[in-house]
Amino acid sequence: MGIERVGIVGGGQMGAGIAEVCAKAGVDVIVHEINDDLADAAEARVLKSLNRALEKGKLDDAAHDDAVRLMRFESDIFLMADRQLVIEAIVEDERIKTELFDRLDRIVTAEDAILASNTSSIPLTRIGRATRRPGSVVGMHFFNPATVMPLVEIVHSVATTEETAARAAEFASDVLGKVVVHTKDRAGFIVNLLLCPYIFEAIRMYESGFASKEDIDAAMVNGAGYPMGPLTLADLIGNDVMLAVANSLHEEYGEPRYAAPPLLKRMVEAGMLGRKTGKGFYDYE
Ligand code: 3HC
Repeated sequence: MGIERVGIVGGGQMGAGIAEVCAKAGVDVIVHEINDDLADAAEARVLKSLNRALEKGKLDDAAHDDAVRLMRFESDIFLMADRQLVIEAIVEDERIKTELFDRLDRIVTAEDAILASNTSSIPLTRIGRATRRPGSVVGMHFFNPATVMPLVEIVHSVATTEETAARAAEFASDVLGKVVVHTKDRAGFIVNLLLCPYIFEAIRMYESGFASKEDIDAAMVNGAGYPMGPLTLADLIGNDVMLAVANSLHEEYGEPRYAAPPLLKRMVEAGMLGRKTGKGFYDYE
């Protein structure tokens, strides 16, 4: 059965982006947030992005109106009941995620529904075992900004069935138009295992006074062809997410190169999470 009704749990940076991608692809989307204020904030975030696309001529009036019509922003989680695919995009906290999957398992009743997580650092196997249907739990890892980055990593836990992974992959590629790669449930998956140690090294380089943040970023943009430098990218991803990935890589592989640089920890403790809080390695006013 094709997936026509999607639920997104969490309307932050990633959840809002994924919802927009789904609605633009003609899919009915309900975004769940924990209260009405956060649901309204998620709606405002998506509408602002859709309006920008309209102004830039990336969407015509009809496509813009269709996308708006296809989305609802709700604080009632029981509205997830009829969703054929639910994508979780909440805070990277294992206890909160597993509690959510336990609830979703009891709420989502649509036949053959898939419960997906956009986690970048928590093993899918641990998320899946919070449910009575670990075979239907899969990772769908989108990249920031989700509206722009083409990739989705499909993460197979040890329990994910081939059918679940194939349906999630088909939805991401055929319906959302994303490039799909498959990966096993190892910390970092493919992209973060390669990308994050490079960002951690850049943070250590800056922290040690080896070079200025501007020069580190300029060097990698102009000398290695990256679209943005590593410290600008950490601010885009979110320094809290970077820290969660460091902790999960270090726990999994035990190698010092994956350990979070002290500066990253201090910045997260100070609320310097990057663009989303207005301050990170750089200021965003
Ligand atoms: N949010 C949403 N959309 C954004 C954005 C943001 N923060 N920044 C830029 N965009 C959009 C613009 O609206 C524009 O869209 P359009 O083409 O539809 O008009 C498009 O991106 C290009 O924007 P610009 O021309 O203004 O800027 P650039 O050409 O510099 O591109 C970029 C911006 C796409 C963010 C580019 O710098 C880039 O690709 N950076 C690398 C991003 C990256 O590596 N992401 C992966 C991070 S890893 C991750 O997410 C995994 C996680 O688990 C840690």
